[in-house]
Amino acid sequence: MKPIRGEAFEADATIRGGAHVSQRHDSAHKHVTGEAVYIDDMVEPIGTLHGCLGLSTVANGAILSVDLDAVRAAPGVVGVLTAVDIPGENDISPTGRHDEPVFAETEVLFHGQPIFAVIAETRDAARRACLKAAITYEERPPVIDILDTADDPRLVTPPLTLARGDAAAALENAPHRLDGTMRIGGQDHFYLEGQIAMAIPGEDGDVQVFSSTQHPSEVQHMVAHVLGVPSNAVTVEVRRMGGGFGGKETQGNIFAAVAAVAAKRFGRAVKVRPDRDDDMVATGKRHDFLVDYDVGFDADGRIQGVDYTYAARCGYSSDLSGPVTDRALFHCDNAYYYPAVKAVSAPLFTNTVSNTAFRGFGGPQGVVACERVIEEIAYALGKDPLEVRRANFYGTDDRNVTPYYQTVEDNVIHRVVDELEASSDYQARRAEILAFNRESRIIKRGIALTPVKFGISFTATHFNQAGALVHVYTDGSVHLNHGGTEMGQGLFTKVAQIVAEEFQIDLDRVKITATTTGKVPNTSATAASSGTDLNGMAAQVAARTIKDRLIAFAADFYDVPAASIVFSANRVDVGGHPMTFAELVKEAYVARVQLSAAGFYKTPKIHWDRDKGTGRPFYYYAYGAACSEVSIDTLTGEYQVERTDILHDVGKSLNPALDLGQVEGGFIQGMGWLTTEELWWDGKGRLRTHAPSTYKIPLASDRPLIFNTRLAEWSENAERAVRRSKAVGEPPFMLAVSVLEALSMAVASTADYRICPRLDAPATPERVLMAIERLKAAGAA
Ligand code: MTE
Ligand code: MOS
Repeated sequence: MKPIRGEAFEADATIRGGAHVSQRHDSAHKHVTGEAVYIDDMVEPIGTLHGCLGLSTVANGAILSVDLDAVRAAPGVVGVLTAVDIPGENDISPTGRHDEPVFAETEVLFHGQPIFAVIAETRDAARRACLKAAITYEERPPVIDILDTADDPRLVTPPLTLARGDAAAALENAPHRLDGTMRIGGQDHFYLEGQIAMAIPGEDGDVQVFSSTQHPSEVQHMVAHVLGVPSNAVTVEVRRMGGGFGGKETQGNIFAAVAAVAAKRFGRAVKVRPDRDDDMVATGKRHDFLVDYDVGFDADGRIQGVDYTYAARCGYSSDLSGPVTDRALFHCDNAYYYPAVKAVSAPLFTNTVSNTAFRGFGGPQGVVACERVIEEIAYALGKDPLEVRRANFYGTDDRNVTPYYQTVEDNVIHRVVDELEASSDYQARRAEILAFNRESRIIKRGIALTPVKFGISFTATHFNQAGALVHVYTDGSVHLNHGGTEMGQGLFTKVAQIVAEEFQIDLDRVKITATTTGKVPNTSATAASSGTDLNGMAAQVAARTIKDRLIAFAADFYDVPAASIVFSANRVDVGGHPMTFAELVKEAYVARVQLSAAGFYKTPKIHWDRDKGTGRPFYYYAYGAACSEVSIDTLTGEYQVERTDILHDVGKSLNPALDLGQVEGGFIQGMGWLTTEELWWDGKGRLRTHAPSTYKIPLASDRPLIFNTRLAEWSENAERAVRRSKAVGEPPFMLAVSVLEALSMAVASTADYRICPRLDAPATPERVLMAIERLKAAGAA
């Protein structure tokens, strides 16, 4: 028997920073002090060059001539790249449709499309030289708006139809029926760190790329493809992004591809960082939608049948428009049961930048339209919209099949809404607001309580996989790597907590490391809110593998039953022999036990048949509800969010502090989308809102004056997601629908709530004012 070392076990000792406890974001202090290294902060290799993209100045046309002589001759310019300089394929389409060139060759399809790149000694020289290009076009009339497509709709990707029951017959037979159209605007991601990539050339065909991307594996594949080299020649690394929000799922590809081509061509490191205006003009955004609805309902407001068409402005290429418009349809029910439903998507080609992923991935647009239908019913029947919502919620035993035939098994929306209704004092406040509006002539108030149900998993089933790599060093410190990327959401912290919990060591013993394609291969984008679900599980598997080896070793070495070995509070009790974790690790090393492991995870149970429109695309649902109160000035349309109360379900929270941050941040970002953030293209297809001067994201002063956010502490994920937690990244975004509906109520008060205001999004002060004027006109008529 070995001598006993270490101190005796303290029964109540715990580790610092395990699972389910609030921990600050691992980089929070570095974000604040400026010590967090973003790509533009990295020490540049000697001789680093800088690239700038030359963009199309027309929205649709044939390229007649490209004269770049003056660009080449400009001071500091090292070279110019066009399509002919691409060694591999001139394509970075993430869908394999070959509809997205790095550089336009014979035609341009949107204003802002890259045609060439200047590579110069400084960023300033590259930008100045860019302006000297002389390009002539034969212009064609552009298709800019969704309405422009009416005569000749072209789709960028096949549409989806969801159908259950006989919607046409249900509409025909319903006691009440109404229809309408809603326009829902797009949104710029406005990540604080813009798009950026830096490529460093290596031996042979090799290149290393630092890219601000949510999808390192895709950047790797795209760069390889464009260079005409195998994937193993390209390594992509990202330590963190200063925000991605979906805007760096595919949109980073071009910057990485151009940097890599230039790095190989000139044999020097090359960095490409567009300025904010170019970033906004040349990269894709949230899809705007035009939704037509037709709904039949009874006197209680219960929906009997509904028909939706979701038309989306997709831009000039497919990008992620297929899955984004699919997810809009998957959320056309929000939290409501439709006895009969038909929903069709129309992913439309337009001569605008190709729209892409953005928090919620089309889901929010689905939800907003659905909530408008609820409102329409409520105003038509003179009811409180909350009553209509309740009448239509999914049931727990029946009335629980979605339009895509997945059964809702984990429904907690009734409890969430009941608790929020009580804690926000909704009923009393609504009564008080109705009374206030009767008396107040200029200022009107509104209140709304809206639910969210959001499906968790990538709808492309094969993306629901992840890998991780864990090393334990002989001093007991741990190195953690996985396929997920950090964009501020706290993924790295949560996954590290899971590993710390598994080994029962303090969180600061786990080193969080940059995501790289060289350590964990073939990863999915960090997206669909599933970063923690997937990578947390893979890391847990890897840690358990090592822990199991340690247990097997110790059981053998100390001749004790495996079941008597307990990991707790940085120590291991080996059947009555206490020792530190590090001591056990050292002994295992000497006994030649492998202290490194890869972990892998794939989500169980899910499947989806797109052609048939049936399956179980989602592993589970996340739920939440928000109650918002606003006041509007009916003379100017200006408004203020007075108060918001949120109750959100994250299952058993891995880190309540980070989860609350996601809920608050998601809500505010959603509020910006639905209120002040307006994208506006002119008739020539030029985006005229391409800087913060004209594009208004929410300020700290726009937040609700009273802001109460709570997690549903009683919730545990009914499915075996990692440690019974639930995804949190996207679902809270849709809580902001409560603000739009509260504005709507305040507007409706000007015509005694007889008419549903049909306020389009974003409900800017101008739109609020116009809605009031429309109601006045309708009231006078
Ligand atoms: N939070 C911050 N701070 N920054 C971001 O870029 N992106 C959101 C969300 N929360 C984002 C964020 C989006 S679009 C998604 S899909 C998820 O985080 C991705 O991370 P997760 O899967 O780890 O939640
Ligand atoms: Mo998030 S839109 O899935 O990156």
